[in-house]
Amino acid sequence: MTYKIAVVPGDGIGPEVVDEGLKVLEAVAERFNLEFETTGFDFGGERYLRTGEAMPESAVDELRQYDAIYLGAVGHPEVSPGILEKDILLRLRFELDQYINLRPVKLYPGVETPLKDKGPEEIDFVVVRENTEGLYCGTGGFLRKGTAHEVALQEMVCTRRACERCVRYAFDLAQKRDKRLTLCGKTNVLTYAYGLWERTFREVAEEYPDVTADYAHVDATCMWMVKNPEWFDVIVTGNMFGDIITDLGAMIQGGMGVAAGGNINPESTSMFEPIGGSAPKYTGQGVANPIAAIAALGMLLETLGEEKAGAAVEQGIIHAVSKMDGMSARKMGGSTSEVGDMVVEGLLAGS
Ligand code: IPM
Ligand code: MN
Repeated sequence: MTYKIAVVPGDGIGPEVVDEGLKVLEAVAERFNLEFETTGFDFGGERYLRTGEAMPESAVDELRQYDAIYLGAVGHPEVSPGILEKDILLRLRFELDQYINLRPVKLYPGVETPLKDKGPEEIDFVVVRENTEGLYCGTGGFLRKGTAHEVALQEMVCTRRACERCVRYAFDLAQKRDKRLTLCGKTNVLTYAYGLWERTFREVAEEYPDVTADYAHVDATCMWMVKNPEWFDVIVTGNMFGDIITDLGAMIQGGMGVAAGGNINPESTSMFEPIGGSAPKYTGQGVANPIAAIAALGMLLETLGEEKAGAAVEQGIIHAVSKMDGMSARKMGGSTSEVGDMVVEGLLAGS
């Protein structure tokens, strides 16, 4: 069987880091005797500037035919903010119904964290972010725009169905891990939206008596992520809070250069990406850290059911970062491609 992977390198550092991921994919194919067929797509800022559309109308249906999507980065300095995000990233998440945004916050040994006295033992949890609604649904509008009496409305949509499927996914995941799940919300202010979340969470919790189900407000969650990250095993939350707390998570795990995520539709095509963005400042210099993109590839393999291959990619990453003493996002002790080579070396050494 051949896995069909759609590759969307995108903008900025996306193509550079995706190249390293594909290098690792080749090594995986060799070591595990797997076959991958990759197809590149030029969706992104350059295409938008050239043709007026970031992605053709047919793209969603085309991508649906693939076993997985591997995405580099979206964001171009010459395109106004919001366009590419909405036309590519959010559109794919929504239309492919990738309802889970899975973001591991894991500190690898040898990677620097700004948290004093915290190490890999303490920083190892996963955020399950709802990925199809909340404040991201794009409904709302302006009244009397541009006047002194302007009104802006931005609606937060929460459906029982989306809450429930997300919460169930999180309980299932917690059951496979350390059996602790925290709902991150704001039930003291957003009483309707997070009221629905909390009721759903409590009801579903009854079906998982072996999982300790906890609740924390989002502001307190931020505090504990810094003060006592070891308290968390799995955190489940809505779209906006998930976006915010995973940037904080990325920082405590060593920076944007190491943080990966998956946009998952457990029943269909999922999409994997480094979460750090296009970083135009570093584009084309060979200095972008490819670890996040490689970790995203590891998640892709795991989601395809190739758990051994996913674990081997992680071993490769651990090998690479152990050689990059005190690695942080900016200082990684090697060029983009050297880091990719080190991952491959570690991955093949384990065979
Ligand atoms: C992320 C990003 C996106 C989001 C942006 C680019 C739309 O910040 O993947 O976290 O807000 O979801
Ligand atoms: Mn974000």
